[in-house]
Order: sequence, then C-alpha cells, then structure tokens
Amino acid sequence: MADTLTITDNRTGRQYELAIADGAIRSTDLRQIKADADDQGLVTYDPAFMNTAACRSRITYIDGDKGILEYRGYPIEQLAEHSTYLETSYLIIFGELPSPAQLEGWTTQITLHTMLHENIKKLMEGFQYDAHPMGVFLSTVGAFSTFYPDAKQIFDEQSRKKQVHRLIAKVPTIAAYAYRHSIGRPYVYPDNELSFTGNFLNMLFRMTELKYKVNPVLERALDVLFILHADHEQNCSTSAMRGIGSSHVDPYSAMAGAAAALYGPLHGGANEAVLRMLNEIGSVEHIPAFIKRVKAGEGRLMGFGHRVYKSYDPRATIIKRTADQVFEVTGRNPLLDIALELERIALQDEYFVTRRLYPNVDFYSGLIYQAMGFPVTMFPVLFAIPRTAGWIAQWEEMLLDPEQKIARPKQLYVGAPRRDYVALGTRG
Ligand code: ACO
Repeated sequence: MADTLTITDNRTGRQYELAIADGAIRSTDLRQIKADADDQGLVTYDPAFMNTAACRSRITYIDGDKGILEYRGYPIEQLAEHSTYLETSYLIIFGELPSPAQLEGWTTQITLHTMLHENIKKLMEGFQYDAHPMGVFLSTVGAFSTFYPDAKQIFDEQSRKKQVHRLIAKVPTIAAYAYRHSIGRPYVYPDNELSFTGNFLNMLFRMTELKYKVNPVLERALDVLFILHADHEQNCSTSAMRGIGSSHVDPYSAMAGAAAALYGPLHGGANEAVLRMLNEIGSVEHIPAFIKRVKAGEGRLMGFGHRVYKSYDPRATIIKRTADQVFEVTGRNPLLDIALELERIALQDEYFVTRRLYPNVDFYSGLIYQAMGFPVTMFPVLFAIPRTAGWIAQWEEMLLDPEQKIARPKQLYVGAPRRDYVALGTRG
C-alpha cells in the first residue's frame, strides 16, 4: 500500500489522499482542500518552523532524542577524535573526506587566501575603539561583497569555489583583526607556516616575538571546538543564510546576515551569556537561589536546552573532555566549579528533567575560551569562524537544488479588515 494520508474535511465532507514521502507531506498539497470556491486552500501554521522541513539536505544529520550528530554520515565523536577542522570543512562542503592530494590542495588554497585587502584594514580602523568584535566581523564580511564583485556569479562553479576559499581562509583573519582592534593592538599578518588554528592564535596573541610559538594542546583544542561548531543543519543562522541566499545575492552579503543571526543571545551569543551568568552567580552557594529564580520564570539557565536535542548535546560531552585538557595547560577556570554544580543540580531537578533541558554546546565552550585568554565578546566570533563551512555548504546546496525558489513564507492575516482612510483633522 502506498504511503498516503487521508484527510476528511468536515466542512465539506470531502476526502483527500496526500502522498507521504520521507516522512513528510507537501504543504502545497493542502491547497486543494477548500471550503468553497473563494477559499485559497488550506495552509499550515507553524511559527518558528517547529515542524516544517524547508529543504532536503545531505549535509548534517541530527537525532535530538538520541543525542546523535553526523556530518555527511560521519559521527561527530569520530571527527573530533581523528579529523582536523580543515579536513572536516572539506567534508562538509564537498561531501566526501578528501584524499591526501585533495587535502593538500585544499590546505594550500586556504593558506594562500588568508591575507586581507589593505583597504579592509582601513575599513576596520573606522570602528569605535570599543566596537563589539561580532559587529565588526559581520560588517566586514558584508563589505567583502564590494571587494569581490565576481562573487555575484553564483551559478559559475569556479567562481563559487573561489569565494569558498576566500571565506574559509579569511574569516580567522577578520576575527583576529576585530579582536586586536578592540584592544588597540596592531594587526598581525597571517603566518602561512602555521596550521589553520595555529595561525589564528598567532594573529590574535603575537606580540613582539619574531615567530609565535603555538601551544599544541591549545591549537588542537581550538581545532576540536571548530570541528564541533562547523555545521548544525537548519538552525537560525543557517536558515538565514539559505533564506537570504535564495534571493541570489552574493555569498558575502548572505553570510553577513547569517552572522547577524548567530550574534543573538539565544543562538551563538549563548556562550557569552553563560559566562556572564556564571560570573553573576559568583559562587556555588548562590546556585540554589539562582535555580529558584529560573524556575519562577525570572530568566533562563543559559547553555541549557535546545530546540532539537532533548538529551545531552553530544558536542557538550566532547567539550567537557577538551576543557580538562585545556585547563591542564592554562590552570583551572574558577567558574568551572559553578558550572559543574549547576549542571549537577539542574539534571536532578524536576523542572529541567520534565522539560528535557540538558547542557548544550555553549555551556562549557565559554569556559575553555576564557581560559585560553579570549574575552567574552569574542565568543560568538569564535563560533562564526567554523560555522562558515556549514553556511557555505548549505548555501551551495540550496542554490543547486532544483526544488528551491526565493524563500517566502505565508502569513495568516489577523489585522483590521478593509477600512477607509480618515483625514488627520477628523480622527478622534
Ligand atoms: N532555562 C530555563 N527554562 C528553559 C530553558 C532554559 N535554558 N530553555 C527552555 N526552558 C523552558 C521554557 O521556559 C519552556 O517552559 P514552559 O513549557 O514551562 O513554558 C520549556 O522549557 C520549553 O522551552 P522553549 O523556549 O519552548 O524551547 P525552544 O526550543 O523554543 O528554545 C532554546 C530553545 C532557545 C535553546 C532555549 O532552550 C533557551 O533559551 N536556552 C538558553 C539559551 C541557550 O543556551 N541557547 C543556545 C542554544 S545552542 C546554539 O544555538 C548553539
């Protein structure tokens, strides 16, 4: 028997057979269901896209109940253990793990594109001395579209490839310049002899030494964090990337919008919010009172809860392990005790248990970033660097998908019915 859904419209008594494919019905199939000839047909109402698939994707698989995350079929745990961010970004964008020659070519291309145009530097110098690095980051990514007008050739494969190299390679440089700008230090040019994350640390932290010495533990920890953040299917910023990109604008403009979405405290800004929350709590004794306030609806336990994960976020497990390695080098972050105790109490508390609220990726990542010397304002930027791989892959998949068109949700109009204009002097 074919997979179908039978719907009876009690208004008319008519029956409809809708096809089910891949566990979904097509919303447009509902349009045939009409109460009368004037009816435009049934639509689905789904604020915040709680139950609407807007695309078919081959990039990232998540099972939120089981705590599974896979990129192109590979479990995140295996990638975090064995891969590098550059290899993982290749996998996410091109669909397969690279051969040794492909990885070498990819690494060379990325390394060759790390420099920024000198005018970008001037542009960045125009920001206020205390400008939030994420604001600087997303503005600069948007400004790239004026430096690379060839990026408008979105249906030219070679052109797309070039923008991919530029974006993956240049985002760490923008991020590092944004950071150095915010603390008034001179920008550090990329060092092409270092790894992707090694060079990033060099651009952030090098002072007067001729050659920056990268700590291999921190270099690897950052690489693992980048792997964990590289994609997460149709989240808020990725949907922004796809939505903006569906107008066929260039990828830099679309990515500026995606980065703006990531900036929000309910998305990539959450790790910044976690650190502020931990500082505010101040000590382990204050935790019960804080939890009480959260349960009374006076704020949220930041870094807890997820739209998709209704069990432990698999990324949080890996991050917790990485934190131990980092703290061995940097010393223990004193806020860790508060975080561990918060987690312990919350995981036993009926409020969090019944709502299936578990630590998400942001709960521990901020502690690592802080221990590595990053100010909290850099946290969303550190998220945006690796997420660039996911945004690009999802953007390209959307562009090449023959089923996609310009994104345009419907609405249910609930405002005033038609009425006539009233002259200003005669209004009550
Ligand atoms: N603290 C306290 N209560 C919470 C929390 C939290 N962190 N998260 C959800 N709840 C409660 C809600 O109040 C709601 O309770 P109710 O049913 O009594 O009204 C219930 O749990 C369901 O919450 P929703 O807001 O409907 O869940 P939604 O899927 O819309 O939100 C979100 C997901 C935004 C992540 C939410 O859990 C949250 O705000 N978490 C804190 C911010 C955060 O950590 N964001 C990072 C997400 S990961 C990422 O973007 C990389």
